[in-house]
Amino acid sequence: MADEVVRGLAPEADKVFVDGTLGGGGHARLLLDAGAVVLGFDQDKDVVARAGEWGKPYGERLRVTHANFAEGLDALVQDAVMVDGILLDLGMSSDQLDGDEAEAADGRGFSYKRTADPLDMRMNVDATTTAADILNTWDEAKLTQMFFDYAEEPRGRALAKAVVAARSERPFKTSGDLLQIVEKIYPLRFGLKRSHPAGRIFQALRIAVNDELTVLARALPLALQLLKPGGRLCIITFHSLEDRMVKKFYKNIAVDELDSVGRVATLSPYKIWKKQMPTARELEVNPRARSAHVRVIERIT
Ligand SMILES: C[S@@+](CC[C@H](N)C(=O)[O-])C[C@H]1O[C@@H](n2cnc3c(N)ncnc32)[C@H](O)[C@@H]1O
Repeated sequence: MADEVVRGLAPEADKVFVDGTLGGGGHARLLLDAGAVVLGFDQDKDVVARAGEWGKPYGERLRVTHANFAEGLDALVQDAVMVDGILLDLGMSSDQLDGDEAEAADGRGFSYKRTADPLDMRMNVDATTTAADILNTWDEAKLTQMFFDYAEEPRGRALAKAVVAARSERPFKTSGDLLQIVEKIYPLRFGLKRSHPAGRIFQALRIAVNDELTVLARALPLALQLLKPGGRLCIITFHSLEDRMVKKFYKNIAVDELDSVGRVATLSPYKIWKKQMPTARELEVNPRARSAHVRVIERIT
């Protein structure tokens, strides 16, 4: 989503940006190459270690911290830092999903295609609860709720029941263990056109392990506090729940105040940009972007 990010953040020399989800640094490099300063956060230690390498040519203009972006933004607010733009490119990087290029990044069970990987799914390996812990300990009602809420999964109840039955025989350990259950619940008739339901279900579990919606809800108001006048917050979502949360948050912020007879008394200092979707060109190089939505809010005054 390079074009959308550049349009959204308008990087220039000496501007300061926060990249809350540094990943492989693709977007950060766009900002750095335009001469900007980037304060980068990622909760994945491997990502931070790799940034130590690719970031060398940028010297002091790239400052990377191993942190959850809600914590990172909070620390900047405490320090009264103001920035020209903030990027949150939510979810996983393709390194974490495929593990093809990054030897260290995978082996954490994010992908249902790598059946021997342990069911871990912690983006931050210092966190305590793994995906296997959730499947092995949450009660049926809580599992059902997770599948309904995070995967919008109509068969969530049956899936939770099957998880509970399976773990009484043998605890969940690998991605393959979960995949087997998914394939029992969904007799496989997936043609090339239909996506495998395991994609949604693995994603739901990842959201639960990393408490992703709570972190996003905490981060949004902090991000706004950091914007200078003219500053922009650019959020790329890949999940409808996240996208709805961002959309609702923006709408509630960018509201003009009305007087007692309903005339606009104070214009909102924020403007919402029209939502961007990936272009056909983007989808050609990055098919995973198909569910991406880019939402920008700008602080005008
Ligand atoms: C989609 S990737 C970002 C890709 C990046 N924009 C690029 O161009 O390479 C998401 C990254 O954000 C990290 N991440 C996800 N949630 C996070 C959070 N709450 N705090 C910090 N990092 C997070 C993941 O570890 C992953 O590296």
